[in-house]
Amino acid sequence: MKIAVISPSARSLETMGNYLREDAADRVVVLVEGGMSKLRSVAEQQRPHLVVVEGMGRDVDELGPLEYVTLHYPRMMVVMLCSQHTPEFLINAMRAGIKEVLPAPVTRDALRAAVARLELKLRMVAQPRPQGEVLAFIACKGGSGATFLATNLGYQLAAAGKKVLLIDFNLQFGDAVLYVHDRKPATNLADVARNVQRLDSSFLAASLVHVTPNYGVLAAPEDPGQAMEVRPEHVDALLNLAVAHYDFVIVDVGRILDAVTLRALDKANHIFPVLQMTLPFVRDANRLLAVFRSLGYASEKISLLINRFEKSGELTPADVERTLGVSGLRTIPNSYAAVAGSVNHGTPIAQMAKNNPVTKALDDFAQSLVPHEEAASGWLGRLLKRA
Ligand SMILES: Nc1ncnc2c1ncn2[C@@H]1O[C@H](COP(=O)(O)OP(=O)(O)O)[C@@H](O)[C@H]1O
Ligand SMILES: [Mg+2]
Repeated sequence: MKIAVISPSARSLETMGNYLREDAADRVVVLVEGGMSKLRSVAEQQRPHLVVVEGMGRDVDELGPLEYVTLHYPRMMVVMLCSQHTPEFLINAMRAGIKEVLPAPVTRDALRAAVARLELKLRMVAQPRPQGEVLAFIACKGGSGATFLATNLGYQLAAAGKKVLLIDFNLQFGDAVLYVHDRKPATNLADVARNVQRLDSSFLAASLVHVTPNYGVLAAPEDPGQAMEVRPEHVDALLNLAVAHYDFVIVDVGRILDAVTLRALDKANHIFPVLQMTLPFVRDANRLLAVFRSLGYASEKISLLINRFEKSGELTPADVERTLGVSGLRTIPNSYAAVAGSVNHGTPIAQMAKNNPVTKALDDFAQSLVPHEEAASGWLGRLLKRA
């Protein structure tokens, strides 16, 4: 971060320079002797992220350069240090776009705190949160394990440090929340749909069942009557909001390809149809893939998951790949007792059976989805890591 400090006093400049440099070695601090009249040239020549100007704070006419700079460099932040500002000056300075006014001479702590606050703001402007990924799970046939995999993958992604939201779009009889939580939810998707005009991130968060602090589930409507209230445009509103606030948005959709399900599948970055290794599942997988092709979904968008996989089975993944014309199938092993225990208790399998092969397969799956972050560099990168 580059900071310019302007002050009529050479001593004061040196002191502030020291305060700012000792705080972060990678800050570039430029010291300029003068007052508000220097602001414009410093802004134009140095292009700092932040300017600290020391002045009297009495003469409103002094504020011209401030107005010019905030207008022409809207991202540049200006802080004033004033020994005796008048209320009138303060109001005008605020109008002209000053970020903060601190008393002069400024203390080390006050200066450092103000700069830290502004650095954080700058971080938000410079690095808007990347959009989250929407992952859709759909059963090729009822009982494939789509809901079990979706809910538990969510838990394991959250355990890996990601912010995860699961939305249960099984409008009729959806019960995903009960796979990872043992209580009935107070609010659900129908409540959110009904209040869509006041939907924002805090309303959404308040409508979730929080399985862990960074894993929330939006439950399916309570009954088919409520389900009718959920319409495709609600899916858009909800997912557009969700991707701005969560790293992963997992949607568990019903097998009936109605307008709501299709809208959720359209918006998904990735679709995971779940099947098992018997012919009826393979047949339905084939039909589902045909539907996806007719909808124009790219083949990279779809990855079949083979659940309850057993090596001793009659069919092999290679057979399925050949039949369906796909490759690189991911398998999740069969583990009846552990999965039934997890589902019956409403406790994620990773919590109940840490070393179970299903837990491990889901961990692998989660790792494959988490982008390997490139080492953040520079002051902004270090700041991001600290925050
Ligand atoms: N890998 C697995 N091993 C053993 N049983 C499983 C596995 N995955 C799912 N199941 C069982 O299959 C049942 C159906 O799963 P569910 O997720 O409800 O299917 P779907 O959502 O596809 O209809 C669950 O009750 C669970 O006990
Ligand atoms: Mg299901």
